[in-house]
Amino acid sequence: MSAGAGDALADEVVVVTGAASGIGAATATRLIAAGARVLLTDIDARGGEQLAASLGEHATFCELDVADEAAWGNAISHAETFLGPVTALVNNAGIHGGGFIEGFSESDWNRSLAVNLHGPLLGMRAVVPGMKRAGRGAIVNISSLQGREADVGLISYVAAKFGLRGISKSGAVELGRYGIRVNTVFPGLVATALTQGLPDHLMGKVPLARPGQPSRAGTPSDVAALVTFLVSDRASHITGAEITIDGGKSVRFPTTIQDYTTEIGLFDLKKTSTHG
Ligand SMILES: NC(=O)c1ccc[n+]([C@@H]2O[C@H](COP(=O)([O-])OP(=O)(O)OC[C@H]3O[C@@H](n4cnc5c(N)ncnc54)[C@H](O)[C@@H]3O)[C@@H](O)[C@H]2O)c1
Repeated sequence: MSAGAGDALADEVVVVTGAASGIGAATATRLIAAGARVLLTDIDARGGEQLAASLGEHATFCELDVADEAAWGNAISHAETFLGPVTALVNNAGIHGGGFIEGFSESDWNRSLAVNLHGPLLGMRAVVPGMKRAGRGAIVNISSLQGREADVGLISYVAAKFGLRGISKSGAVELGRYGIRVNTVFPGLVATALTQGLPDHLMGKVPLARPGQPSRAGTPSDVAALVTFLVSDRASHITGAEITIDGGKSVRFPTTIQDYTTEIGLFDLKKTSTHG
């Protein structure tokens, strides 16, 4: 009998980091709805415990700072004890890391690298032995558009998210022989605590005048749907993939001929373009 929508992930035990809020919370919720058992982890114990309690008996919470290697051992034992052998890991926890090349703070740099880069690697190291024993596993790493292209004043974040891309690729190559898939997701702007305070026009609250740009920011559940797919068997032939989820934001050149044709009087684009 084929699995229905609510039990498609019935065989999966998934560890989600940074699961107390934002994309991690939406991902844990969606995975549970698809039938998975989920260990929610976060440094925010109160938020994580509350959410896990609201998700029912297939969810449990364990406090985990992803940068703390010993805490990873504890979290995996917790999952194995209460849910069963871990079959999937979503490395989602992340913090912003600012700074300019000429003026970054060492402590911001170290923390960004520890949480956004070293943490996911520690997570992969923690789950791989069990996945090897099982002969299968899925790891999804949450990078960012800023893990593909640079941005100003975010040197620590950009460096860490680019690094995560490399770790994912290495993981796909190194672990494929054990049936372990490793994929990377690159979200554009998503309305969460992380992006609170960003200007309205960036978050899609004010429609952009230019065509070809997304009319809204992403939502945590947009990303959760993609992650749930990548964890599932439906993605069994997908590994080493880099999937951007940004409503098309990065497809188009930030500035194109359409933005200045009227100013330079080159031609009337409306008459010559079939693309509107
Ligand atoms: N929001 C966006 O626009 C956006 C865009 C691209 C990528 N991302 C990435 O998505 C992921 C989730 O971000 P979000 O927007 O949901 O942010 P968020 O701030 O809503 O959630 C992040 C969660 O991670 C937890 N966390 C922070 N440090 C931690 C640590 N050391 N160990 C464990 N948990 C920790 C926080 O407590 C929080 O619950 C991050 O990796 C972020 O870089 C977000």
